[in-house]
Amino acid sequence: MIRPFGPTWTEGGRDPRRAIERSWGTVASSAFGSTRSAPEAPPFSSGRLGNPVRFPLADWIDDHEGCRYNLGKSGMRGTVRHPLPTRTQVRDASEPELRRRLADRVGVSRSRLFVTHGASEANSLAIAFLSRRPRGRSPRCRVRFPEYPPLYDTARTFGYRVVDASGPVDLAVASLPRNPEGCLWSSGEIERFTNGARATLIDETFREFTTARSVQRLELPSVWSTGTFTKAYGADDLRVGYVVTPEAEADRFARFHGVVTDEIAEWSVAGALATLDDGERILREVRRVFERNRAAWRRATPRGPELAAPVAFDDPVPGGGDRFTLRCLRASILVCPGSLLGKPSGVRVCLTRRSFPRDLAVYRRVRDGAR
Ligand SMILES: Cc1ncc(COP(=O)(O)O)c(C=O)c1O
Repeated sequence: MIRPFGPTWTEGGRDPRRAIERSWGTVASSAFGSTRSAPEAPPFSSGRLGNPVRFPLADWIDDHEGCRYNLGKSGMRGTVRHPLPTRTQVRDASEPELRRRLADRVGVSRSRLFVTHGASEANSLAIAFLSRRPRGRSPRCRVRFPEYPPLYDTARTFGYRVVDASGPVDLAVASLPRNPEGCLWSSGEIERFTNGARATLIDETFREFTTARSVQRLELPSVWSTGTFTKAYGADDLRVGYVVTPEAEADRFARFHGVVTDEIAEWSVAGALATLDDGERILREVRRVFERNRAAWRRATPRGPELAAPVAFDDPVPGGGDRFTLRCLRASILVCPGSLLGKPSGVRVCLTRRSFPRDLAVYRRVRDGAR
């Protein structure tokens, strides 16, 4: 595998600025992050694997996995273990049963919930489905930056113009709890966000880190939501997620889902059911680690928002997000630059590892030294 840069590249005396630009293009100087007009799409480069279109945030994290202090990963893989299904469980795996159990957990009828190969597919299916509505002008999609990039990049891919503005829009998309800010929105904030949108997609990938209930409980009109097993359950290997449609769209979406995607592998269905069977234990453990890390973060940043997900946005950081990210990298600390999340002034810090209190202390030292 080609590793254009990594925790060791500074040891070789290479210029960090050049290295970062080789990998991303000139992210630092891109139009990302103006508050009213939405940032442009990231500068796709030819990529580590030679692909013309990539996911720069994931590439950034993967390319620097070897950092000693990893504050880059937003999921619990490697911190908790989910059970693997037995042969009998695989033989008996039932997707309708998985649908029923997930729908019960979200608090909606089974007919509104569709199982997918993860939240990425769930988000893409919802956005693709909604983009097929007849319209005579360029559709607009509301986003509040910073935001998880595939949400707005997928909207762009399906023809939406991305705006960070209130008022009438065809679609509004948000992660909730927020990635990267980690906070939840109040019911009032959610209602304001959906106001004027013909449809809203709320990505609830991080919901299980607390006992927060699904946005679906608010029974707002035209709200879609998504979820996954990859974050709180750390079950990346299962590749199971889901999308919940508004009541009125369930039948039409069922036909779309049946045409454009396929069934989930039995192994994954069985693994997801086994994980739910063991869910209380896993989530107790996850919330214990998260609670301890969150307390350490709160002590370090007492004025920040209350976190409901193991991610936080440190904003602003000295020298701006890109420069500070490189400074961290020189100390073998992995954080994600805000320019990859639509807000270049900050960096994302993840609170998923058991080593977080120690890693945070090192991060704080570097941050204090950068003033
Ligand atoms: C907000 C958000 N949505 C979706 C995903 C991807 O989920 P999955 O791995 O289930 O496709 C992530 C992964 O980091 C995420 O942070």
